Amino acid sequence: MEAGEARELWKAAAEGNVERVQSLLESGADICEGNDEGLTPLMMAAQNGHAEVVRALLRAGAPWNALNPAGKCAGDFAMEAGHQEAFDVLLDAGMQAELILGIVARQTKRAEDGEKPYLQQRVEYSEGKLTDEENKGVMMAWENPLMAAHAKAICANGGHVLNVGFGMGLVDTSIQSHNPASHTIIEAHPEVYKRMLETGWGEKRNVRILFGRWQDVLPQLDSYDGIFFDTYGEFYDDLKEFHEHLPKILKKGGIYSYFNGLCATNAFFHVVYCQLVALELARLGLTTQFIPLPVKDCLDEETWLGVYHKYWQLDTYFLPVCQAEEDENEEDTVNAS
Ligand SMILES: C[S@@+](CC[C@H](N)C(=O)[O-])C[C@H]1O[C@@H](n2cnc3c(N)ncnc32)[C@H](O)[C@@H]1O
Repeated sequence: MEAGEARELWKAAAEGNVERVQSLLESGADICEGNDEGLTPLMMAAQNGHAEVVRALLRAGAPWNALNPAGKCAGDFAMEAGHQEAFDVLLDAGMQAELILGIVARQTKRAEDGEKPYLQQRVEYSEGKLTDEENKGVMMAWENPLMAAHAKAICANGGHVLNVGFGMGLVDTSIQSHNPASHTIIEAHPEVYKRMLETGWGEKRNVRILFGRWQDVLPQLDSYDGIFFDTYGEFYDDLKEFHEHLPKILKKGGIYSYFNGLCATNAFFHVVYCQLVALELARLGLTTQFIPLPVKDCLDEETWLGVYHKYWQLDTYFLPVCQAEEDENEEDTVNAS
């Protein structure tokens, strides 16, 4: 394609000229070519809020998830500029593609294939963090306010509570402050389990520890009023698999929450995955709300010193509060009496 044609496509996309965009595409203009800053026609249309052009480019095969060198996709541009319609079109495209292909989650998985499995690695507790052999942050103290909010959400109904993944014990310490009737903790890593015992978790009155992978201890579970899930070294497919068990282990009206770190290095991918999880949970009979919590102030560059990977790069944390539907028959019985 000639450079002039590329410039014309960028101009037409940025100006919202859908007919011109279509005729340039028909004459062979490259839909993926970016300008000097790496902005593609789709990003330019999104940035300027031209939803019709966004639709036309997506229909013609523009990838919804292409990133510019700064790590932003078209959805990020629409979101930052507040263009709701263009944002919605891109969100829909992202969800459709991920439902079928799971591109973003599988890219993450492929990148980590071939590594020593986390559960076979040594872990180290040091000031404010728990790290694996590669110095990746398994858990870090900056998450403490988030863990307190998760604990509050899942303990809202009182009763019996389950937490999957002990880590630094932050969420479990908060759960204890709500004094649940029982508090079950599943933990699979032998060194983390050892730490739990050394720090007295084995002797707490209402605590039951199940040592093993959640996948293996499932038959030992009861049903709970609140459940929190936060493991490490697992993938989106594992979270999905855990969700399939919720109808059995979460009581009617019970609250479920999970550490919401899916695709947390890109704001728009993160939104796509929030919506995908909400959709998947709706199919299982749970309603989901995301409570925005600002996290910018808990995180400065010093937080990440000595940690291999900055696993969180967003300014807001969306705390999922998911509730299992009440039994309709139960309501009918109450209404009838
Ligand atoms: C991110 S940390 C949990 C942090 C915890 N929420 C807190 O407040 O400190 C993840 C924990 O899950 C454990 N884990 C990883 N895979 C697991 C699995 N399949 N079953 C149970 N625990 C697992 C890890 O050993 C680690 O202790």
